Amino acid sequence: MQSVTLTRFLIEQQRQANAIPPQLRLLIETVARTCKTISHSVSKGALGEVLGSLGSENVQGEVQKKLDVIANELLLDANEWGGHLAAMASEEMETIHRIPNRYPKGEYLLLFDPIDGSSNIDVDLSVGTIFSVLKAPEECSGREVTEQDFLQPGTQQVAAGYAIYGPQTLLVLTIGTGVYEFTLDREIGSWRMTDGPMEMPQGNAEFAINMARRRQWSPGIARYIEERIQGTEGPLGKDYNMRWTASMVADVHRILKRGGIFLYPADHRYADKARLRLMYEANPMSFLVEQAGGAASNGYQRIMEVKATGLHQRVGVVLGDKAEVETVVAYGREG
Ligand code: F6P
Ligand code: MN
Repeated sequence: MQSVTLTRFLIEQQRQANAIPPQLRLLIETVARTCKTISHSVSKGALGEVLGSLGSENVQGEVQKKLDVIANELLLDANEWGGHLAAMASEEMETIHRIPNRYPKGEYLLLFDPIDGSSNIDVDLSVGTIFSVLKAPEECSGREVTEQDFLQPGTQQVAAGYAIYGPQTLLVLTIGTGVYEFTLDREIGSWRMTDGPMEMPQGNAEFAINMARRRQWSPGIARYIEERIQGTEGPLGKDYNMRWTASMVADVHRILKRGGIFLYPADHRYADKARLRLMYEANPMSFLVEQAGGAASNGYQRIMEVKATGLHQRVGVVLGDKAEVETVVAYGREG
């Protein structure tokens, strides 16, 4: 199959559409290159002694898998020296990582979840890497970048994407000009475009939610799911399917390709039970889903307009099919 490489796509976007400056192109290429290395480590599995836990916990009190730490280190190392970044932040690190003084600094901030869905690693199900790119505020040139500089709404993202390490290794990317999918061609070592601009199919009768959390749902979410479970015997008059991979990358990728809705809701009565991270998961996925014609809400407001108050802040997430997301929000309003 003849297809455009990621490098060529980015150069053309830079040249024709003027959509990205060279520094951002370098950043995306660096992240994409690192995802190839991560993919290589993931696929070695037990042979590479990369499975299992380290016995340590991350800032959120979650057990760190060996691959969480390996992927985090790979992303930090690869992005330090290129001159394109001012600082980085990761789900696996408590505080921000500034670019060391021995390297030139750039104007971007990179945020990532190095291995999303890491509970799936040891059982050979899909995991991924999610990333989001912001511009460092202008006033921070000439001084040290702080955590505060990262606390921008998702609408300020200049790029976002994920790599998925599944039956194929894919990179799905937006720079605000639509969503494009690239497949890793292992024979020649490059990313080649296999889909895009992607348009999420609407009207697919599939939903993704962790049913075991039902007791923490708001009445609106409970009603929404209940109606779909009733299928042909309920008010909607048609059957639905439920899918849950427990890896956000895999669930969101299915929704981008096939449609449907993903929910990891948070009810105000259980605010501490919100699961997904605004900066590393919800914002980048919302940018991608919106760019593909879908919608993303925390159940009450557009996720990308949620005020960021902390690097590791968590939010409720309802994303995918636009009409379905609107229904969830309307049910929430009715109480
Ligand atoms: O990163 C958090 C995450 O692993 C997501 O990838 C996934 O959607 C979710 O948590 C799975 O949650 P649960 O363990 O409740 O199924
Ligand atoms: Mn994650």
